[in-house]
Amino acid sequence: MAMKDWKSFLTPYEQAVDELKVKLRSLRKEYRRKNEYSPIEFVTGRVKEVSSILEKANKFGIPIDRLQYEMEDIAGIRVMCQFVDDIDRVVEILRERKDMQILYEKDYVTNVKESGYRSYHMILKYPVNMADGQKEILAEFQIRTLAMNFWATIEHSLNYKYKQNLPSNIKKKLKSAADAAFRLDEEMLEIKDEIKDAQKLFEVKSDIISTVMNNILTLISIGKVAEASRYQMSLNKLLEEGEIWEFNNILYSIQRDIDKYKEM
Ligand code: GTP
Ligand code: MG
Repeated sequence: MAMKDWKSFLTPYEQAVDELKVKLRSLRKEYRRKNEYSPIEFVTGRVKEVSSILEKANKFGIPIDRLQYEMEDIAGIRVMCQFVDDIDRVVEILRERKDMQILYEKDYVTNVKESGYRSYHMILKYPVNMADGQKEILAEFQIRTLAMNFWATIEHSLNYKYKQNLPSNIKKKLKSAADAAFRLDEEMLEIKDEIKDAQKLFEVKSDIISTVMNNILTLISIGKVAEASRYQMSLNKLLEEGEIWEFNNILYSIQRDIDKYKEM
């Protein structure tokens, strides 16, 4: 296939990766906007390089004209989660969607691969609307925790460097690193509620702080500069170690002042 033909062959895949990234990132934004915990931490995506497509086609004996039916990961999306049980939630959300069709799933979270690799894979059919009509392409979701992603990224680059012939001492180290990543996920899961509380507290605090900051600006804009700087100083004092109720006190007091001034 000439380079020009590769370009047009890959166009719908580029489109699909762009769209899927937007859609999954919007899910995260929606949770955040509702002040709810998001099972999605971040999303990445890529279209496979032509050289990798050719290498894989060669390895599996896939003829070029069968690529679109037989190579499932030309469009690839990775969804990273904070905790192992977030993976199930993401999987359920994706199964329910009407804008894509899940063809099959591979659970390498429960069934860890020989290498130590863990991730949840979903192969899907996704329609893209191109200039000359609709085209359905295959895509692959890889859903994993941050620890699983860290391990897979390192292992991938080592395999790349050693071209699949990993020296046995490195293989052993990777195996034990995979165990460590697994334990990290387990331990994080055990204190998940604690961590979520802390993250929630952080959000509540930053919400109050930005409202107080806006109120300080309002005070300045109505000429109450001395009051504004008094509030700014009390806020600064709280920033490091202030408790929620102390922030709330400032918020309550500044809002009362502004209402008072606005009535005058
Ligand atoms: P491929 O299609 O070659 O990738 O094999 P497969 O059809 O058996 O699919 P599988 O679900 O095993 O792997 C699909 C993708 O998962 C790969 O392209 C990698 O991105 C990732 N993957 C699978 N196994 C490993 C592994 O041992 N290490 C790393 N780093 N990634 C892996
Ligand atoms: Mg595959």
